[in-house]
Amino acid sequence: MPRPTDNPLLPRPRRSCLYVPGANARALEKAKSLPADALILDLEDAVAPEAKADAREAIRNAVGDRAYGAREVVIRANGLETEWGRDDLEMAASAGVDGVLVPKITRGKDVRAINRFLNDAGASPDLGLWVMVETPLAVLNIKKIAAASAKTRLTGFVMGTNDLAKELNAVPTPDRLAFLFSLSAALAAARAYGLVAIDGVYNDISNDAGLSAECGQGRLLGFDGKTLIHPSQIETANRIFSPSDAELGHARAVVEAFALPENRGKGVIRLNGQMVELLHLEQAERLVAIDDAIKKLAS
Ligand code: COA
Ligand code: MG
Repeated sequence: MPRPTDNPLLPRPRRSCLYVPGANARALEKAKSLPADALILDLEDAVAPEAKADAREAIRNAVGDRAYGAREVVIRANGLETEWGRDDLEMAASAGVDGVLVPKITRGKDVRAINRFLNDAGASPDLGLWVMVETPLAVLNIKKIAAASAKTRLTGFVMGTNDLAKELNAVPTPDRLAFLFSLSAALAAARAYGLVAIDGVYNDISNDAGLSAECGQGRLLGFDGKTLIHPSQIETANRIFSPSDAELGHARAVVEAFALPENRGKGVIRLNGQMVELLHLEQAERLVAIDDAIKKLAS
């Protein structure tokens, strides 16, 4: 199974992943001009039960004319166990988008069932599958869920911190103490199996300092980017999840140093007073590749 959204040679920026409610025509339109790396066109939490069918048609039409350009487009379906899930997944399978995001996953079996459904619905092998990590059971089963990627189209995890807060009976605080176990467990499983990992949303739309701090924490933990709920959050996420000038300068210096004839074949060198190993070269090459991809997306 090709892993379209997970090619390490062609890293795809996912700094900002904006949820766009499928029932909001204005938002679907506005998203065409927003600088988000990815759009998650939502049929689940952001859409009321009586609006689900219309939202499904609105999303089908919105993606039909390919107006979202280079942005990665992912449709968040309702779960297969709901009355809307099958129709959502059938639409997503034939909509020509980059991926589907499925909520309320609890075990590897769920991933395989969704994968089978998408295959039976005729989905292209290029259609990626992301799943929400938002239930305590998913956190406890996270390795098995990630391992299901070996034989399915699973390529990514998206943290659902609002649902987790509710299910854990946890109190959200600025340091996200109650979520650190879940965030780190999902991140470790994602990295162990080569999956994309996107952090949860920040609900306080008017608090940019708080958003910056939470993006910074997500980046330190290792996430590729953050899910967002409002256009005003895009710039902050893009900035914080981009490699900084200092990081890029260092990465380029590492790449150049290992390319010098006198360093050929060496596993470890000294650069500006620091020990640098071949593993740092890999990190540096990835950073430069992400920067190239960000510039390409912006052009
Ligand atoms: N995606 C695209 N456009 C959006 C948007 C989004 N998530 N949120 C707001 N906009 C647009 C509005 O349509 C409006 O467009 P306009 O300039 O053409 O009129 C503009 O941005 C300003 O919106 P604003 O008036 O500030 O937002 P609001 O107060 O009407 O809505 C929310 C606030 C939270 C209800 C809305 O941002 C939203 O629905 N966000 C997504 C929620 C979601 O998806 N939740 C599920 C995942 S956690
Ligand atoms: Mg949810």
